[in-house]
Amino acid sequence: MNSVAIRLAALALFGLGCTAKAANLVGSEPCRACHPDLWSKFNRNAHFRTYPATHGEPVPNTGCEGCHGPGGDHVKHPSKTSIFAFSTHTPQEAAERCLTCHAEDLSRANVRRSEHTRAGVNCLSCHSIHSSAPETRLLVSDQRSLCYGCHPSVRAQFSMPFKHRVNEGFMSCTDCHNPHGTFAPTWRMANRPHMVDQRLLNEEACLGCHVDKRGPFVFEHTSVRVDGCETCHQPHGSPNPRMLNRPVVFTVCLECHNGSGSGRTGLGEPVPVSFHNLADPRFHNCIGCHVRIHGSNADPYLLR
Ligand code: HEC
Ligand code: HEC
Ligand code: HEC
Ligand code: HEC
Ligand code: HEC
Ligand code: HEC
Ligand code: HEC
Ligand code: HEC
Ligand code: HEC
Ligand code: HEC
Repeated sequence: MNSVAIRLAALALFGLGCTAKAANLVGSEPCRACHPDLWSKFNRNAHFRTYPATHGEPVPNTGCEGCHGPGGDHVKHPSKTSIFAFSTHTPQEAAERCLTCHAEDLSRANVRRSEHTRAGVNCLSCHSIHSSAPETRLLVSDQRSLCYGCHPSVRAQFSMPFKHRVNEGFMSCTDCHNPHGTFAPTWRMANRPHMVDQRLLNEEACLGCHVDKRGPFVFEHTSVRVDGCETCHQPHGSPNPRMLNRPVVFTVCLECHNGSGSGRTGLGEPVPVSFHNLADPRFHNCIGCHVRIHGSNADPYLLR
């Protein structure tokens, strides 16, 4: 809000033909004298790009003043109150400051109503402008330690025998999640969003990598398309092969193919036809016959 006001004020003043001086801008050069440590490493910060290329009149919303606001008063009377000091503002106020520039991007379109924001986790819980390790998107620490720091139970899931190799560095949380919040998913009746990111055409994040599961198939397995991958798989890791929810495959299938619910026939998901003798161990290996479990282009029963 503050900065919008400042911007408007600046615009109004420019409109009246006044100079930048009237808006109290000094540029970033004067900060060097008293904050040399921050100043000297700032050229490695992504925000260095906001420095104006020319050395004429200071430009609003650039360099140090892009975040800390006009520095004219502060240079004359240095103190925490003569400039926008983040340490004297609430996390919400800080976030709004960042969003004066960072709200336009689609990937942060939901940031104000994300699970994180609603739980009081804000930009500066995860990002540090002046003291982040290099090459980390200005994160407080590397992404894995950052997320595990607040989500310790997830670490255990990625240590399961069958897992996505996040701990090994082959992929990261943000391959599937957007910590800035997401749109409601188009799968699973928009239930349980969990900030899972979407890929092209509103697809599940999983399909960004497992493209062979994308379809469309002539014969879809409705549960894959409508309910989503997590109906049968643990996305992080699982004690069961193929990261399945259950140790034995047929118990996954019988969760649905048991005659309850409301399937195409109106009588529930189809019960395996009568020749499926579940007392016979041969029929326990459902995927031994229904090999195209994610969808088939050849067989309505997903047999090939
Ligand atoms: C003449 C010396 C001087 C100059 C020039 C100067 N500062 Fe400061 N700055 C200070 C002092 C002194 C403080 C107060 C530190 C304190 O109270 O802990 C301060 C505090 C700050 C703070 C608040 C720090 C906090 O604890 O949150 C910010 C932000 C800041 N300066 C930014 C700037 C920027 C941006 C510029 C350039 C426009 C600038 N300063 C130029 C001396 C200066
Ligand atoms: C992208 C926004 C942004 C820009 C640009 C920026 N700062 Fe900061 N600054 C912050 C935030 C946020 C903090 C609070 C501490 C933190 O998160 O690192 C901060 C803290 C500070 C502090 C006090 C804390 C400390 O570490 O001593 C000073 C002084 C300061 N900034 C000066 C500057 C100067 C000088 C520049 C230009 C070279 C600058 N800032 C550019 C966002 C910014
Ligand atoms: C004056 C506008 C402005 C403000 C205010 C601003 N940023 Fe930025 N930010 C930028 C620009 C410009 C870039 C570079 C974008 C690019 O390279 O595409 C950037 C880049 C970033 C990046 C990416 C860094 C990287 O390595 O790619 C992060 C993270 C970021 N900003 C966080 C913040 C946070 C947190 C705040 C609030 C403390 C903030 N920004 C405030 C303009 C701003
Ligand atoms: C829960 C932690 C978390 C919070 C809260 C958070 N971020 Fe991020 N942000 C990240 C991570 C992790 C990345 C790196 C994503 C990557 O590597 O692809 C990132 C990347 C970015 C980037 C650069 C890449 C991009 O998406 O364009 C910007 C800019 C950014 N964040 C701004 C913000 C702003 C502004 C806020 C507050 C409104 C904020 N972030 C809050 C974790 C967070
Ligand atoms: C392969 C994709 C993928 C990766 C990588 C991933 N997640 Fe998830 N995560 C998901 C999906 C999908 C859900 C939703 C599960 C559901 O709805 O049953 C989820 C759920 C969650 C939840 C909420 C449910 C719970 O188990 O508490 C948290 C928290 C979470 N993930 C954190 C993380 C963190 C932290 C990382 C990185 C260390 C990470 N995730 C990496 C896909 C992923
Ligand atoms: C400062 C602590 C903090 C950090 C850092 C943090 N989170 Fe969170 N996260 C929370 C809180 C608090 C919630 C909301 C309460 C909850 O559901 O656990 C949350 C919620 C989530 C959820 C949704 C959980 C659900 O049940 O819907 C996901 C997914 C998630 N975080 C992923 C991440 C990822 C990925 C990172 C790293 C980029 C991260 N978090 C970093 C504190 C944090
Ligand atoms: C960034 C790419 C990527 C994303 C996104 C991704 N995966 Fe994976 N997945 C892999 C890779 C690579 C493997 C191979 C196993 C390994 O890493 O050792 C794998 C393995 C698997 C396996 C086990 C295969 C086996 O042979 O045991 C399953 C099941 C799986 N993923 C399901 C999912 C689901 C469900 C999602 C979405 C929640 C998802 N994946 C998202 C890359 C990805
Ligand atoms: C109806 C339950 C079910 C759903 C829903 C489901 N899968 Fe599977 N998936 C399985 C079973 C069962 C296997 C084991 C197949 C085998 O071992 O031959 C498997 C195996 C896999 C494998 C490893 C073997 C292979 O075929 O590559 C990957 C990767 C995978 N699934 C990804 C996904 C993705 C991505 C989604 C969401 C688009 C998804 N699954 C949805 C049941 C399901
Ligand atoms: C989340 C619920 C669910 C799970 C779990 C599930 N299915 Fe299905 N399955 C369905 C639904 C719904 C249909 C479509 C029924 C319809 O069109 O009326 C279907 C269709 C089928 C069909 C095609 C039958 C037909 O008449 O079109 C086969 C074969 C099948 N499933 C086998 C399996 C196997 C094998 C497993 C275990 C690996 C499994 N299903 C797990 C819900 C599920
Ligand atoms: C030995 C091979 C085999 C095994 C093992 C097997 N099926 Fe089948 N299943 C078939 C064949 C063949 C059909 C098609 C029957 C037809 O043409 O009417 C079928 C049909 C189905 C149908 C569709 C029924 C309908 O009326 O639409 C479902 C659902 C099904 N199976 C589920 C399962 C489940 C669940 C398992 C594991 C408990 C399983 N199948 C194990 C061969 C098998």
